[in-house]
This record gives sequence, C-alpha cells and structure tokens, in this order.
Amino acid sequence: MIERLGALMKQGLAQLSQVADDVTLQDWRVKVLGRSAPLGKILEELRDLPKDQRPAAGRRANEVKTTLEAAYEAKAESLKAAALAQSLEQEQLDVTLPGRPMPRGRVHPAHQTLRRILRIWAEMGFQVYRSRDVETDEYNFEFMNMPPHHPARDMWDTFYTTTPGVLLRTHTSPGQIHVMRERASEPIRVVLPGMCYRYEQITARSEIQFHQVEGLAVGRHITFADLKGTLTAFTRRMFGSAVQTRFRASYFPFTEPSAEMDVECFVCGGEGCAVCKRTGWLEILGAGMVHPVVLSYGGYDPEVFSGFAFGMGSERIAMLRHRIEDIRYFWANDLRFLEQF
Ligand code: PHE
Repeated sequence: MIERLGALMKQGLAQLSQVADDVTLQDWRVKVLGRSAPLGKILEELRDLPKDQRPAAGRRANEVKTTLEAAYEAKAESLKAAALAQSLEQEQLDVTLPGRPMPRGRVHPAHQTLRRILRIWAEMGFQVYRSRDVETDEYNFEFMNMPPHHPARDMWDTFYTTTPGVLLRTHTSPGQIHVMRERASEPIRVVLPGMCYRYEQITARSEIQFHQVEGLAVGRHITFADLKGTLTAFTRRMFGSAVQTRFRASYFPFTEPSAEMDVECFVCGGEGCAVCKRTGWLEILGAGMVHPVVLSYGGYDPEVFSGFAFGMGSERIAMLRHRIEDIRYFWANDLRFLEQF
C-alpha cells in the first residue's frame, strides 16, 4: 500500500505539472483529490489492514494527501498570478490616444454682453433685481407718469393680452416701481435686466423683443451730476477709458430732466460712417432724474428723496461690440451666426 501511495503521489504531481488553465485544474482536483479518486479508495482500505501496518500506512496516506493538496493550492495561486499578468499585458490603456471631443454649447451672444454689462454694474455696487415680463397697464404706463390716453404712450407700440389691462412690458422701467415698493424708503441702487416686447415692424434695427438693462438709484442727495458720472464710469469700463461720450437733452414722461447718452462711434472713431449715420455718435441709452410723480407712486417722498434712472438696450450694445449689422440675427437661432461668438 505504501508503494501504491508513492506511485499515486508521483503520478498526481506529474499530471499537475501539465495543468495550464483553471478548467483542467478543477478536473485534476476531482480526479486526484475527490471522494471517488484512487486516493480516497486507499484511505478506505486502511481499515482492512492488519493492525500493525495501519499506523505507518496511515501516516504515509496523510503525507500524500497534504502534499497533493499543497501542490494544488500552489498551482491555483500561480495560475491566478499568470492570468493577472496576462490581462495587464493585454488590456493596456494607451493614454496617448487622442480624446473624443465633447460637443460644447455656448452662451448666446446677447447674454454674453448682458452678463458683461451686469458684471460692471455689480462692480459699481448695483444689485441685480428681476422684474416680471407680463405687466399691468398701471405699472407699465400709469405709474410711469402716463395716465390713460396720454400721448406719450405712443412712444411704445404695445402687445396687449386678451385680459384687459394686462400687457407685455414695453420697457424695464415698471420694475422701478416694484423695487421702490419693496424697499419702502430705503436707499436703492439696482439694475433690472430683462426682455421687453414691442409691437413693431421687424427690421435690421428693430425687433419685437430685446433685452434692456434698467438702472435705478434713489437716495436723499442724488443729483444729475451723479447720473452723468455713474454712466460715464460705466461706459469707460464697458468700451475702454479712451471712449468719448456725450449727453443730449431728451424726453421721457418718467424722468425730468431727461437725456440720451451717445458714445463715440468706434467703427469710424467719430469720423462719420454708415453705422453712425455719418454723425460720429452712437446712442446707447435713455436716462434722467426720476420724476417726482414716479417717486410718489413708488412710496418715496419726492420732497426728501431724489434719484436717477437709465435704460440701455443690451443687443444694441452687443451689435456695437461685435459689429453685428442686423438685430434679426439674435433670435433667428441660426447656428452659423451663434457659433461665431
Ligand atoms: N424706458 C425707456 C425706454 O424704453 C428708457 C429709460 C429708462 C429712460 C429709464 C429714462 C429712464 O426707452
């Protein structure tokens, strides 16, 4: 029996050395170490041996069994290591391959300019206030010092809704009243950006919708000099410190006195060209001192408080910055246009 055990061990180890993959290894395990394997049978035969031979044979049988088991474990380990090495070798990642480009969206050119305008105002201490697009006649006109039938209403061609007294705001100015009523006699320094709507013929220069940035400052000692200084500081930051500006007297029902501000035409440098219609100047905003009637509607005592307001068209400014000749490009959603910015 001892010899048979020795032979079994030799044979088992020899077969194991031929094993090169996991499936064959498991086969080997069943055939050599399994219950019905020759070794198992020999172990059963131990019982039938004469008593004096049993201890030696038993010891040898155990030796053979543990040797084969240890050999099996070692083989399994080495197969695992080999498999790992192989997968590392084969699944190598080539980090030098070019990446796949991600399609990237971009900020709309109108919003790029809007953001820049708001950033400058923020740096100058103006908070951004969001007002509503759908307004009442009261806020859009009456509180802006234009009672029903006031001829100045014709300055804005209006989109009315089917609900009487409800319209799309024609300018951001009604936001002034919302802010004043909310702040209730506190000093105010805000800008109100937003879309405005006008029932107009669409041409290269006018659209039925466009962004305005309204500005409002209210306090106890605000003068026209503050308005001029603030707007001049803004244009320097927006268009560069060398740019010339000028104020022209104008009229708005909600400001008194009223003005419009022009910047030197940067297409021709003031020489006169088609963009500035040969004047050398480009109008960028309307402004003025808040009318006492408007202050009162906002809940501010015009005897105590004064303020200035302005409204600038941001697409207008974007057109000047990028030399865009037709305002209709902005909302036509033509990617050939949008992708240029
Ligand atoms: N709301 C005016 C417009 O739309 C602009 C403006 C705003 C003028 C504030 C003066 C003060 O034309």
